[in-house]
Amino acid sequence: MDEPERANDSIAVKDLVKVYKGGVRAVDGVSFEVKAGELFAFLGPNGAGKSTTIKIITTLLKPTSGTAEVLGMDVKIHSARVRSSIGYAAQEVGIDENATGRENLVLYGHFYRLDGKTIRRRSDELLELMDLTEESGRQVATYSGGMRKRLDLAISIIHQPQVLILDEPTVGLDPQTRGHIGDYIRNLVQELGITVLFTTHYMDEADKLSDRIAIIDHGRIITSGTPQELKDEISGDVVSLTLTTDGASTSDGVLDSSREMLRHQPFVREIQEIDGDLNVYVEKGETDLPRILRVMDGNGLTVQTISLSRPTLDDVFLKYTGRTMRDEEGQRTTWARMQRDVRRRK
Ligand SMILES: Nc1ncnc2c1ncn2[C@@H]1O[C@H](COP(=O)(O)OP(=O)(O)OP(=O)(O)O)[C@@H](O)[C@H]1O
Ligand SMILES: [Mg+2]
Repeated sequence: MDEPERANDSIAVKDLVKVYKGGVRAVDGVSFEVKAGELFAFLGPNGAGKSTTIKIITTLLKPTSGTAEVLGMDVKIHSARVRSSIGYAAQEVGIDENATGRENLVLYGHFYRLDGKTIRRRSDELLELMDLTEESGRQVATYSGGMRKRLDLAISIIHQPQVLILDEPTVGLDPQTRGHIGDYIRNLVQELGITVLFTTHYMDEADKLSDRIAIIDHGRIITSGTPQELKDEISGDVVSLTLTTDGASTSDGVLDSSREMLRHQPFVREIQEIDGDLNVYVEKGETDLPRILRVMDGNGLTVQTISLSRPTLDDVFLKYTGRTMRDEEGQRTTWARMQRDVRRRK
């Protein structure tokens, strides 16, 4: 078999397509590269095709067409070598609940055919790195969600892979624990120089944690870049308007006339409608928000709530898809808080 070529990219995916039996086109022409030492986020809503892409890269699934390379090795040709050079933590975890944290690590060490001494040394180091030393003798069944995820991370790198692939490493955790796991992942990149590709549907997490992001929707990458580059695509601020109270549906007439009214204001750049609410993109929120209120008021249109926010990755997603991916972690600024900030600046 040919020797794999050396590559600058740790992961290189080109024109990847996966059509499942039954015809679901889960991945529809995906291309991206992850550079050595990079922390790369694959961000997208449920069913976008993240896990499918990850499973192809980790050799668990065959692509319908296209290529994926890890460290210059084609995943179809050099699958065994690819498997031994990557660490992988799946979306559904494979930990033995009845064994202790340390026993799980040792088990995986044997699985990777490491010798006993190496396993002991690395288990100690990794338990320390993941702050699990004290809990290492306890049955995993007694661990919290965050502790399990940390053990997962430790297990996935027991064989010292150069590339670590994590499918939803923080799913199901509370926001605070998610933040902690993020810190541990960042630490792995810094301390061990590992390249990390992780999937998430939390925009704030992709934003805070990653060096670069690819946003995927319906099996296609809609845009990619550093978090800042992506947000810079949306210049200015976003003012969100709710025109009715919860439960009541905004009549199309009110929505249309509001949109029409605002569209003609010189300070309004763009308007997006989501579920009966309006997102108005403006140059400068602090001055333009009161202007919007005046326009609405002057035309007899009632605003129930109004809020101002800086562009988030959700706005980037919205720009490309016309839909929102906003989750409970949205960074909406309340009107009251904005007023306070304006007062402070005076
Ligand atoms: N084994 C399968 N057979 C048929 N369809 C599948 C299979 N696995 C996934 N799919 C479909 O492929 C699409 C992409 O699924 P995938 O699991 O890759 O998405 P995802 O982005 O990881 O979503 P999530 O955020 O929910 O984990 C979905 O429509 C899903 O229903
Ligand atoms: Mg998934």
